[in-house]
Parts: sequence; C-alpha cells; structure tokens
Amino acid sequence: MLDDVFNQLRGLANEVSGNAYTPYSKQPVGTVALLSNGSWIPGVRVENASYPLVIDALISAYSTARCAGRIDLVAVVQNQPFRPSDVLFLSEALDSEWELAAPDVLTRKGISELPNPAKSRDVSLTVDNDSEAAMLALANDVADCAFIPESGFPVGCVVVTEDGSIIPGCNVEHSDWTRGLCAERIAMATARAYGHSSYLRIYLSCPHEPTATPCGACRQVLFELTPDVLIVMARGSASPETTTAEQLLPGGFRGDALRS
Ligand code: THU
Repeated sequence: MLDDVFNQLRGLANEVSGNAYTPYSKQPVGTVALLSNGSWIPGVRVENASYPLVIDALISAYSTARCAGRIDLVAVVQNQPFRPSDVLFLSEALDSEWELAAPDVLTRKGISELPNPAKSRDVSLTVDNDSEAAMLALANDVADCAFIPESGFPVGCVVVTEDGSIIPGCNVEHSDWTRGLCAERIAMATARAYGHSSYLRIYLSCPHEPTATPCGACRQVLFELTPDVLIVMARGSASPETTTAEQLLPGGFRGDALRS
C-alpha cells in the first residue's frame, strides 16, 4: 500500500525534474512533497554559475509548501537518493521526526498510511487588479507569510510569469542559516518547479526597511534567470523603485563557458 503511493510519487518526481534548471551539472532533480490531504507540491534543483548558490530540490519543495501555509507534509520523494543531512533538515524544518523509508523516500516517522497523490497544489495567486499598486500590496500580503524565527524580518515577492501566473515567495528561515532562502529565490524556484521559465515582472515588498534592495545572493540568481525583467520594490513608507537584476549587478559573473 505504501509502496504503491511511493511509486506514484516517484513518477511525479520524475516528471517534475523536467522543470529543473541544471545547465551545469546536467542532472535534473525533482522532489514531490505529499501533503496530508493528498495534494502535492513540486520542488526542483535550480543551479547558478556561482555554484554554492544552487537551490536544492528538497529545500525548494519545502519552502514552496511553507510559503503556501502548508506544513502538513507526510512524505517526500525525489528522483535521486536523499542525503543523510536531508533527514535532519526536514526534521528540524518541520519540528517533527522524519526517516528514510527508501533511499529516495522520506516519511514522517511512524506513518503507516498515506493518501493517494491527487492534484498538484496550485500556489499561484489571483488578482482582480494588476496595477502596480495592487501588485505591490499583494507582495506585502505575501510577506505576511514569511517564516522568520531567526530574524523577524519579512520579505515578500511576487513573480508574474509570461503565461499570466502570479507566483508568490516569502523568506523561509532555518536554524541552519545556510539552508534558509530569501523571498526572491523561493519565488524563482517555485516558478520553475511549476514549469514557468519566462517572466514579465517581479514585485518585492520589504515592509520594515525603507532602503532595502535584494541581497547579493538573490542578485546573482536573478541575474542568471531573469536579467532584464523589471523588479519593482516597495519598502514601507518609501516610494516604490524599479530596477533590473542587470542594474543591480553590474559586471556580474555569467559563467557562459561553464554551460557548454
Ligand atoms: N531577505 C530576503 O528575503 N530577501 C533579500 O533580498 C534580503 C534578505 C531575508 C533573508 C532573511 O530571512 C532575512 O531577510 C534577513 O536577512
């Protein structure tokens, strides 16, 4: 019974891996996080010319779930084996015990039944009004979902994709700081995981810091994935400003030779 669910999730993880961005390793990784009601959330590996900025597929799925307000994960399956550190990561992140049920399957400890995977959970947002002010207000709402036990500093991001989806991302922190991610990178990984690779606009809200701009790591990731897309930033009482990743990272490292 559990094996049947695992196999269904393996098929989904394999499909999801097709959305990974892995031009350097050429080894796409896809992860599927099953929720308690049978809906599931995809995650993908997103590489960067600055290698250590890679977004891990498990962290991508977990962070997307967190941003969607879902922490009721019951099983996670990947199209390649998990590492021992992944068990610890998820156990700490979800404050519950997790174990390897198979090299490519993590389950909440003690689970004896799992729902059949149904539809993927749609995390995209809908709006009646797509004016700049309305979209910045939406980014501000997304910031309210930030998981920030370490900093108390919320950031919200909304990516408008070329096919009209509105993808949210908020910052999701972890007690191991190296495994937390900023709002911008989660939004980009979520967009990728759901198969969106072209973007029209990025809206950011950083309600507590009127002079904030995207951090260096996010600049590098945005520079590679969406160099010339307009990024509109709202910072509390300051008036919104518009920029692009290319403007934020002049002379940035492109790594073209690494991709061939
Ligand atoms: N943060 C973002 O989400 N985006 C940025 O561009 C800057 C920083 C988050 C990361 C961390 O959760 C908190 O803000 C403090 O750095």
